[in-house]
Amino acid sequence: MKAPVRVAVTGAAGQISYSLLFRIAAGEMLGKDQPVILQMLEITPALEALKGVAMELDDCAFPLLAGMVCSDDPNVAFKDADYALLVGARPRGPGMERKDLLEANAAIFSVQGKALNDHASRDVKVLVVGNPANTNALIAQRNAPDLDPRNFTAMMRLDHNRAMSQLAEKTGKSINDVKQVIIWGNHSATQYPDVHNTSVAGTNAMELIEQDWYENDFIPTVQQRGAAIIKARGASSAASAANAAIFHMRDWALGSADGDYVTMGVYSDGSYGIEEGLIYGFPCVCKNGDWSIVPGIELNDFSKAKMAATETELKEERDGVKHLLP
Ligand code: NAD
Ligand code: LMR
Repeated sequence: MKAPVRVAVTGAAGQISYSLLFRIAAGEMLGKDQPVILQMLEITPALEALKGVAMELDDCAFPLLAGMVCSDDPNVAFKDADYALLVGARPRGPGMERKDLLEANAAIFSVQGKALNDHASRDVKVLVVGNPANTNALIAQRNAPDLDPRNFTAMMRLDHNRAMSQLAEKTGKSINDVKQVIIWGNHSATQYPDVHNTSVAGTNAMELIEQDWYENDFIPTVQQRGAAIIKARGASSAASAANAAIFHMRDWALGSADGDYVTMGVYSDGSYGIEEGLIYGFPCVCKNGDWSIVPGIELNDFSKAKMAATETELKEERDGVKHLLP
């Protein structure tokens, strides 16, 4: 058996974590041979609820669960963390955009960035789920100057999975036939779901769908899926968000599938002309515990315009939280 690794999860008594923690402890994120110590962070008033979650984790008798820490102190929860899933933040309600949460949530990520900087493993892999995820990831990254910026990522995988699913349904094919979907940019209504390089059962997706459906149905459906879930469920996505977090971390840690891309919000190195330093959704491949942006994808004018629009929104969000960016 391998030595246990430390997995910090914030917002651990919230609705996403109620799916996420149990799947991590079952080995679905890091493998069935990898014991984990769960280091769970909550705000003080939620510690009693967190105690209940920890009791339920105990009651699962997971063979891979090697220990648990429950705390309201990020310095404790992030101590020596190998993985950190930053879920704890307010969710939006009906009629809100995710960036409306910036004021409420941004400060959380400057505090947690500093705590990661001071206490986590130097190789910590950080995934920000709390919205607005890309800009919160930027805040955490900029408050952790001793860590490699590449350690900080934002969750775009839910959008990626949504796009795969819509396309499989439209073309009448299996989800397993859909390869190389891309979501460029921000986890917001400006995100750009791009299927120009996508194949469905070996055929280019653009040959299987109408331009009108692509522009006026598919793209808005994927962009607005989070709001549609909120409208239908009365609460924002939880199990599908936890699933996307598991897929994101699993692929980063253990490698992504050969011949496919995964979308991750990552630190821009200037690829595709996107301003360096933004946390932007790019097509990535993961190998040996590291990610890289897929190079050389051809872009038409339609794609370039959509990528620029979502980049502009990310710059505006960044400029709105300047006071939190050292
Ligand atoms: P929730 O309200 O059910 O749970 C959030 C939890 O975070 C609560 O228990 C709260 O006490 C805790 N929390 C608040 N501040 C904290 C802090 N400073 N430290 C630690 N814990 C803290 O919300 P949820 O449905 O689990 O959603 C969490 C976040 O994830 C929201 O911001 C939501 O919008 C976002 N989200 C993102 C995606 C994505 O694709 N990136 C998908 C779904 C949800
Ligand atoms: C989602 O995409 O489901 C989440 O970001 C929640 C939301 O506010 O839409």
